[in-house]
Amino acid sequence: MRIITVVTILSLLSAGCSTEKGKRDLVPLINPPFITSNYPGTPFLFYIPTEGARPVKWSAIGLPSGLSLDVSTGIIQGSVVEKGDYPVTLTAENDYGKTSSNLIIKIGDLLALTPPMGWNSWNTFDVNISDSLIRQIADSMESSGMKDVGYQYINIDDLWQLPYRDQNGKIQINTAKFPHGIKAVADYVHSKGLKLGIYSDAANLTCGGVAGSYGYEEQDAMDFASWGIDLLKYDYCNAPPSRDTAIIRYKRMAEALRKTGRSIVFSICEWGEGGIPPHGQAGGRKPYEWASSVGGNYWRTTLDIRNSWLLDVYNAGSNSIMQILDMNAPLADYAGPGHWNDPDMLVVGIDTSKTTVVNRAGVKGCTMEEYRSHMSLWCLMAAPLLAGNDIRNMNLDVREILINSELIAINQDPLGKQAKRIRDDGDAEVFAKPLSDGSWAVGLLNRNDSENKNIGIEWQELGISGEMHVRDLWKHETLGRFSDNFVGHVEPHQCVVVRIFKK
Ligand code: GLA
Repeated sequence: MRIITVVTILSLLSAGCSTEKGKRDLVPLINPPFITSNYPGTPFLFYIPTEGARPVKWSAIGLPSGLSLDVSTGIIQGSVVEKGDYPVTLTAENDYGKTSSNLIIKIGDLLALTPPMGWNSWNTFDVNISDSLIRQIADSMESSGMKDVGYQYINIDDLWQLPYRDQNGKIQINTAKFPHGIKAVADYVHSKGLKLGIYSDAANLTCGGVAGSYGYEEQDAMDFASWGIDLLKYDYCNAPPSRDTAIIRYKRMAEALRKTGRSIVFSICEWGEGGIPPHGQAGGRKPYEWASSVGGNYWRTTLDIRNSWLLDVYNAGSNSIMQILDMNAPLADYAGPGHWNDPDMLVVGIDTSKTTVVNRAGVKGCTMEEYRSHMSLWCLMAAPLLAGNDIRNMNLDVREILINSELIAINQDPLGKQAKRIRDDGDAEVFAKPLSDGSWAVGLLNRNDSENKNIGIEWQELGISGEMHVRDLWKHETLGRFSDNFVGHVEPHQCVVVRIFKK
């Protein structure tokens, strides 16, 4: 099975990342994000996500002073001192054609202007992380095509550290796992135009019982920066339950990160409110109300996700995909460029035979249709897209879900609106996300376990009128022109996603 997968992927790659969509996929296509940001005077790194046959030659017109493009790798690097919005025209050319698109490079005080995309080690690898795993993941990010549709961050989660600091109070890397240190891994990841994230906790110990950063915020932030870290996920295990304490501790780390001279995205992993309080602590701290003002770029809104559509048995400290949807959907107004609700990482394609936390007792895994719906809903909700499966060995169905660039484009839309659940008719739900070009992305979700449903959207519900084009973002097909409404045929646990546009 594994050999077949590798061979199939290799043959796809030799055809220039072409999939079943055929030869037109050989022509270069530049994918979002079309806006990216950095703090002034800090190292800037951006790979222009581009699908199509290799080799590609890139060019960029209008790069601000301090940045340069490597025309054969598509990586822009450097540092920009002056704040400002810099519009850049990008071009990608190969033997089959040429394409251009616009990118805005914003040098200012806000990172993560679109939801961060990447991969995180926790959901599949748990404690089993290492230098070689992270390098292999970086390689797979390229060979799978994920890098070319915008996945960028590779995040090392808990248990890269030792439980104790050294005699100078310095946090210690577990050298059995990372024998060359973290910087060597960061250098490797950066050489591919990708970014490296790391994990710590606002207490003495992390959830996994190794050293956290409480009381050492500035020292650890400086260490992370010196290693070349680009993102910090900051957990709240073993910390006092009070909301005021959480606010103080997160603010302290945000300020420490800001002083480092690197642009480090800050991920607040404080689980949010509701359900069973995790790790024996009180919930209800509502991070969505304060996380942005203390410097968080995204914040968890729920307990830990499980590899399950629904959970039918008690599963401590966890939520299913549907529970998470119900907790995250009402929070749409809190999301926007630089500050996103985080309904936790993707479980698409996680192998249920592995004994990891997401696969605890009672967890069944999901059908491919359920994984498609999970991806659809996370894209509609402008959630960070952090895959957690073993991307070194994924099958084509899983890969097709993760690299659906039409769906990713709605997630990465620069307007930065989270879809609202505009209708809830029992098992039939409708989600609508306005997009920067005046079009709408609409999700039609059937939560019924066995019955098909026809779920409709009326133009007046979106405040639009007249004839509209409707494009199905899973079929990759424009379905035609419709006046007044569109009705989708939706199977059990399916989420049809359409883009509705005037033309
Ligand atoms: C918490 C977080 C998870 C993961 C683990 C690591 O449970 O919510 O996402 O980081 O800790 O121990």
